Amino acid sequence: MEGRLINPVSGLPDTKNAPEADSSVLRVWGGHSLRGHVKISGAKNSALVLMTGALLCSGDCRIRNVPRLADVERMAQVLSALGVKIHRDGETLDVNAREFTTSKAPYELVTQLRASFFAIGAILARLGVAQMPLPGGCAIGARPVDLHVRGLQAMGAEVQIEHGICNAHVPGNKGRLKGAKIYLDSPSVGATETLMMAATLADGETILDNAAREPEVVDLANFCNSMGAKITGAGTSTITILGVSNLHSTDYEVIPDRIEAGTFLTAAAITHSELLLSPVVPEHLLPIIAKLQEMGVNVVEEAPNCLRVLPAAVLKAADIQTLPHPGFPTDMQAQFMTLLALAEGDSLINETVFENRLRHASELNRLGADIRVKGNIAFVRGVHSLSGAPVLGSDLRASAALVVAGLAASGETTIKGLQFLDRGYDRLDLKLQQLGAKIERVREVEADIAIATATNTVQPA
Ligand code: EPZ
Repeated sequence: MEGRLINPVSGLPDTKNAPEADSSVLRVWGGHSLRGHVKISGAKNSALVLMTGALLCSGDCRIRNVPRLADVERMAQVLSALGVKIHRDGETLDVNAREFTTSKAPYELVTQLRASFFAIGAILARLGVAQMPLPGGCAIGARPVDLHVRGLQAMGAEVQIEHGICNAHVPGNKGRLKGAKIYLDSPSVGATETLMMAATLADGETILDNAAREPEVVDLANFCNSMGAKITGAGTSTITILGVSNLHSTDYEVIPDRIEAGTFLTAAAITHSELLLSPVVPEHLLPIIAKLQEMGVNVVEEAPNCLRVLPAAVLKAADIQTLPHPGFPTDMQAQFMTLLALAEGDSLINETVFENRLRHASELNRLGADIRVKGNIAFVRGVHSLSGAPVLGSDLRASAALVVAGLAASGETTIKGLQFLDRGYDRLDLKLQQLGAKIERVREVEADIAIATATNTVQPA
C-alpha cells in the first residue's frame, strides 16, 4: 500500500483523502491450493462493542488485538466526535472517555455504522442523557432497534424518536438508570450488549432474560468486569448485572475473530487445501466445524488455540439453518452457500436471522452455480465446477463468499464492492496471497481494461 495515505487510527487507506481507494477491485485466479498458517485477527464484532464499552470508564482503557478495519476507523471517529481521546499504535487502541464534550453522536457516522448505536447504553449510563441517530437498515435487513429502546425504558429512561434521532434521558434519580428485569423478545446481540452496558452503572440489579449468547457478548462482559463491573451469566440466556457507581482503567485483549477463521476454513475446504489457523478459540467455532465435518471436511485441534483443516476429496451436500449462537451463525451463511454450490447433491439453506441476506445467490449463479431463492430459503443444487466472471459484493459476508468462490472458479473472477469487504476483513487478500492464492487488488480501471482485452481477444475468432 505504498504511496497511499494511511489513516493513523485504522492503519487503512485513508478513504477520505484518496478518492481511488475504494475503487479498487480484486482479481482472483482459481484452482490453486492454499498451504501454510494464517494468523487470525481480533474479532470485529467484539472490538467495536468494546470501544463503546470504554465509554463507561472515566480512566484509561487499553484494548489490544484490535483489527485494522474500516468499521474500527469509523467507530473511532464516532468516539472522537463525542470528545473521547483515542490513540492507536499498531493493534493497540488507547481510549480515554474522562471528558465527553457532547452526548449527541454525529448523524452521518452512526448511519454508516450500526454498531455505534449500541453506544447509547454506555452514554446514557455515564451522562443520564443521549441523542443517538437511528442506525437505519442495510442490505441484509430493516434492523430495527425496538428491543434496545424498550430495555432502556424499562430501566427508567424516557425515549423519544424524532427526525431520525433517538433522544433519551433519565428523569430523576440524579439521571441514573435503575436496575430492571428485562425479557428480550428475541436474543438480539446488539440489544443484549446495549442493555448490559447501560446496567453496568445503574442503580440496583438488572436481569436480562432470553439474552444473546454470542462469544462477543461474553467478551464485552469480561471487558466490563475487568474494569470493576459485576456481570454474571454472560454466554447463557440469563445475564445478571449488579450496577456499580464507577469503573476503573483496564488493559484487555479482544478475542480472535471466529467469522474470519470460519471464512478461511471455507477457503481451505473449497480448494481442497490443508491449512493451519491461529489464534482461534475452537469452542467459538463449534457450529461451523460441525457443519464442515458433516460435509466431509475434517478439522482438528492442533493446539488449544490452533486448528488444522484437512483436504477433503469430495464435498457432501448439507442443510443449513442460521440461528442465534450456539446455532449456525448467519455471518457464515454466504461463505457456506459458496461451498455447497460445489458439493455433491442438493442442499437447503434457511436464513432465519435476517430477512434479506441471500442476495449473493445471484452473483454465485453468474459463476455457474445452480441456486434458487424463495423468500428466506435457498435451494442449492451442487455443480461440478464454477467459472470466473465479474461479480459484485452486496454486503460484507456476501463479498467474502465471492472471494471464496473465486479461489475455486476456473479462470479469472473480478470482485467489485470491496468497501464492504474492508469493513470486516483485515487484509484478506494479502493473507490469501501469503497462503499461495492467485489474488491481487487493483484499481478498477486496470481490471476493466484487462477484462475488455480478454473478451476482445475472443471476438475476432
Ligand atoms: C450483530 O448484529 C452483528 N453485528 C452482526 O454481524 C450479526 O449478523 C448479528 O449480530 C447476528 O449474529 C455486530 O455485532 C456489530 P441482532 P445486530 O440484533 O446486533 C432483529 C457481520 O456480518 N432485531 O442480533 O444488529 C434484527 O432485525 C454483522 O459482521 C429486532 O427486531 O444483530 C435481526 O433480524 C452483520 N429488534 C435479528 O433481530 C432489535 O431491537 C438479529 O439482530 C434488534 C434486533
